Amino acid sequence: MTAQRIHDTVAEDFSRVNDLIIQRLASDVPMVEKIAQYIIESGGKRLRPLLVLLASQAAGYSKEDHLKLAAVIEFLHTATLLHDDVVDTSDMRRGRSTANAKWGNAPSVLVGDFLYARAFEMMVELESLPIMNVLSRATAVIAEGEVMQLMNVKNPDLTEDQYMAVIHNKTAMLFEASSHTGALLAGANPEQESALKNYGKHLGLAFQLVDDVLDYQGDAETMGKNVGDDLAEGKTTLPLIYAMATSNEEERQLIRQAIRRGGLDDLPRVLEIVTASGAIEYTMTKAREQATTACDLLACLPASPYRDALELLTEVAVARVS
Ligand code: IPE
Ligand code: IPE
Ligand code: MG
Ligand code: MG
Repeated sequence: MTAQRIHDTVAEDFSRVNDLIIQRLASDVPMVEKIAQYIIESGGKRLRPLLVLLASQAAGYSKEDHLKLAAVIEFLHTATLLHDDVVDTSDMRRGRSTANAKWGNAPSVLVGDFLYARAFEMMVELESLPIMNVLSRATAVIAEGEVMQLMNVKNPDLTEDQYMAVIHNKTAMLFEASSHTGALLAGANPEQESALKNYGKHLGLAFQLVDDVLDYQGDAETMGKNVGDDLAEGKTTLPLIYAMATSNEEERQLIRQAIRRGGLDDLPRVLEIVTASGAIEYTMTKAREQATTACDLLACLPASPYRDALELLTEVAVARVS
């Protein structure tokens, strides 16, 4: 299937990145290593490292530093997940109990800090100020995105534009930084650098839009995390924003109240309204638009198996919904 074909394009590099990730988790403090290993080894799709490997080589890179850059980005991503699961009080991730459910909030936060720090140590080894500039900025923007979202928990008045700004910061920024730094590593020309940067941004937006659909449509087993978490946390995502804008007054009030209350009691009724309103289709259309924009940006790159794989990745990002 498509995901496998993408993976095959960089299979050897991919396994070397995984080795590097494990190797660089080493710490003299057993608890640090244990928790970091627990979340890293529970898998995950490794999409962002894949993006680094593909983007750098699509831009002509042929040395070895893309492996380290890919590991750095997976460390940054994993750090955000450890912190995110504390903030969201989530108890399932990658098909297992979250670190916070298993060891508590304090170790999760501290090991998240460790992973950020280790990522920055490795980043310095790359000896590229432009790459450090992009990644340090992205790290700040992701934190801002998470805080923006936190400030809007249980706020049913979040607009579609505000929602897009949140998902751009919290999710798309790391996708953007992955393909952008891949291009920087390769010494891409300005046109290709900008195309790859924007490719990552639009792919990331598509990815989070789909993630937010899956929270209403998916099943816990394939997602590795619980369905209905967003509503339980009082998160106003696009499916709800659209459903509120298009349903009748009674339904609108029901959704508003469910967001204000949080919890899962209202999920079945909210799910019915969301489905009947066409909100899933609307959100998927928005996701497909982002994926198409991403795909079109690849036209300025020379033909290569890496470019083909980046193209396929835009399909995979939106094909997670059955
Ligand atoms: C989870 O990202 C956080 C979001 C941006 C939705 P992924 O779905 O890429 O997580 P893993 O790494 O595959 O577990
Ligand atoms: C994840 O956002 C974004 C980051 C980790 C920065 P979500 O909270 O929507 O992701 P999941 O659903 O927990 O994976
Ligand atoms: Mg979360
Ligand atoms: Mg989510």
